Amino acid sequence: METALVTGANKGIGREIARRLVAAGMTVYLGARDAVRGREAADAVGARFVQLDVTDEEQVASAVAGIESLDVLVNNAAVAVEWGTPAPEVTAAQMRAAYEVNVFGVVAVTRACVPLLRRSPAGRIVNMASQLGSLSVLGSAGRVPDRQLLAYSSSKAALNALTLLYARALAPVRVNSVHPGLIATDLNGFAPGDGVGTVEDGADLPVRVILGESGTGQFYGEGRYARDGRVPW
Ligand SMILES: NC(=O)c1ccc[n+]([C@@H]2O[C@H](COP(=O)([O-])OP(=O)(O)OC[C@H]3O[C@@H](n4cnc5c(N)ncnc54)[C@H](OP(=O)(O)O)[C@@H]3O)[C@@H](O)[C@H]2O)c1
Repeated sequence: METALVTGANKGIGREIARRLVAAGMTVYLGARDAVRGREAADAVGARFVQLDVTDEEQVASAVAGIESLDVLVNNAAVAVEWGTPAPEVTAAQMRAAYEVNVFGVVAVTRACVPLLRRSPAGRIVNMASQLGSLSVLGSAGRVPDRQLLAYSSSKAALNALTLLYARALAPVRVNSVHPGLIATDLNGFAPGDGVGTVEDGADLPVRVILGESGTGQFYGEGRYARDGRVPW
């Protein structure tokens, strides 16, 4: 039986990924920074709760120390701190807050999990990326790059660089970025509807990449900017 760890999984797409992986027969550690909400979510989906604030390196180390074997890591926890702030007004403090979770948190959790993933016969890492982190998308015209999320988009671009660098360094562990689509969650405050999917929609592709025959060093995604199931870097 395979084992997975999903970070930031007390709600949103991460919680739905955890639920699907449990349904697929995996032992799933559901990471959350808040113990009450995390335990509730873990109980609801049949996962094991692990307290994991990805910005707290001691907590990361003790959480991972409690996991015996690991086949799948989903770096899902993320924040978007600058909605409504025009790009030129975003502060360095906002940048730090975003990078703390979306980049440094990913590095801390990945580093702690690498020894376990290397021991797996089929280790894989899914980094929950975004088309907003695609330099090709940001350099094109349209509604998506116009969102101007300076901290979020640039942190997700950095995450994509981590994907490529880890994919090379950790082979045969497979490391991929996945854009889940535009999904209604607390992250963006959107409602489902016109072009905005549900968390069930958002979990589809990450779960397919985890359970299927994925490559490595890929940026999987669908939608307007994607070609053949890949988002351009
Ligand atoms: N929604 C979209 O349209 C969309 C599009 C592209 C990519 N994504 C990506 O998909 C992933 C899931 O996002 P979502 O839309 O499901 O957002 P969400 O509902 O806001 O979930 C984000 C999760 O991250 C957790 N988190 C934040 N900071 C954390 C920390 N320091 N340590 C541990 N957990 C932390 C949150 O916990 P709390 O409840 O404690 O805050 C929450 O559980 C993210 O990586 C996001 O960038 C989403």
